[in-house]
Amino acid sequence: MIRFSTAGESHGEALIALISGLPAGVPVDLDFVNRELWRRQQGYGRGGRMKIETDKAHVLSGVRHGQTIGSPVAIRIENRDWKNWEEKLPVESGDPARHQPVTSPRPGHADLAGALKYNFPEARYVLERASARESAARVAAGAFAKLLLKTLGIEVSSHVIRVGRVGLERTAAWNQIAAACGREEVVLGCVDAEIEARMKEEVEEAARTGDTVGGIFEVVAHGVPAGLGTYANWDERLDGLLAWAVMSLQAVKAVEIGRGVTAAEVFGSQVHDAIHYAGSDTGRPTRFTREHNNAGGIEGGVSNGEEIVVRGYLKPISTLRRPLESVRFDTREATAASYERSDICVVPAAAVAGEAMVALVLARLAQEKFGGDSLCEMKRNFLGYIEQLRQF
Ligand SMILES: Cc1cc2nc3c(=O)[nH]c(=O)nc-3n(C[C@H](O)[C@H](O)[C@H](O)COP(=O)(O)O)c2cc1C
Repeated sequence: MIRFSTAGESHGEALIALISGLPAGVPVDLDFVNRELWRRQQGYGRGGRMKIETDKAHVLSGVRHGQTIGSPVAIRIENRDWKNWEEKLPVESGDPARHQPVTSPRPGHADLAGALKYNFPEARYVLERASARESAARVAAGAFAKLLLKTLGIEVSSHVIRVGRVGLERTAAWNQIAAACGREEVVLGCVDAEIEARMKEEVEEAARTGDTVGGIFEVVAHGVPAGLGTYANWDERLDGLLAWAVMSLQAVKAVEIGRGVTAAEVFGSQVHDAIHYAGSDTGRPTRFTREHNNAGGIEGGVSNGEEIVVRGYLKPISTLRRPLESVRFDTREATAASYERSDICVVPAAAVAGEAMVALVLARLAQEKFGGDSLCEMKRNFLGYIEQLRQF
């Protein structure tokens, strides 16, 4: 089973990603992994932190001679900012005068709930782990999932479809989305330059007024065959697993599969994707086709052979330069919430983390369905299944 976990704090020495269950023999392209990390650092509206960090994956185990070897892959991503925090956040007790407490919890962050839960007198330790810096480790693990999926012809990309009040009111084709992910300069990750310019103005307005913005990203998985996930058990449904995975990302407050949200407002005849049969060879594993893909590639918790479309809705960033009211932990006096250097808009970065989470779920389900300890065994099983679909 493909599993992953992460460790590390925002201003600690490093982040760690541990991914196990990958078959042996998956070609590992470290430039690709590092490019994914670079993509997560981009986007208009990021704060000073991303100027300090140049995330690079240092693989500690599980890869030899450019291929996975079936053992757990451990990846270390150094926090360059650590040198500025070593004395403020030492592993040993250090000098208490140098610690940097977060004295007034910031609304929208885990600061207060976390301090209450772990019995901390202030929110420094809470912030350190609740921070979305952790998503860099997810992106590294997700890059390995993508490398496995690529060998099966499955690709995962994303684009930004809303920043604050500005939305892309049309669908985008796979090629456009994939091309947007390949850009050397990332503004806001929208496929439409005109809309992207308006999104940028939205971020500028938030920056001017000491505010922040949220938005929506859309992740699309291309080339997924019918049959991943199952309706047989609630906790094996593909839609449920994707929703959980994407919702677990920091600041994501809603997840939509296909046309999930607006489907609730119209009649069924306008939502469900009529089924046709192509008759001639479409080059795909089955000749069943769909008029639309409102279902986002999933029916009954099972992939149906169409593109998988998952959207993550982000609340605006919680740290405000014009802080909301809060209360001091020590005196209980009313005060402004603490401020830490912060991003204003992170929708493009969250989109990259969203891709990682989707890729990790798909890789896990693909490995469960096709099995195999080596890539060649897995691919043999995969190709046998594709042939079965062709002959259906
Ligand atoms: C890529 C990314 C970067 C983020 N950067 C910041 C940041 O700089 N400042 C901030 O206050 N929140 C930031 N956030 C959002 C917080 O992590 C999030 O609001 C916080 O964890 C509370 O949200 P939650 O309740 O969903 O965990 C970021 C989120 C993501 C996905």
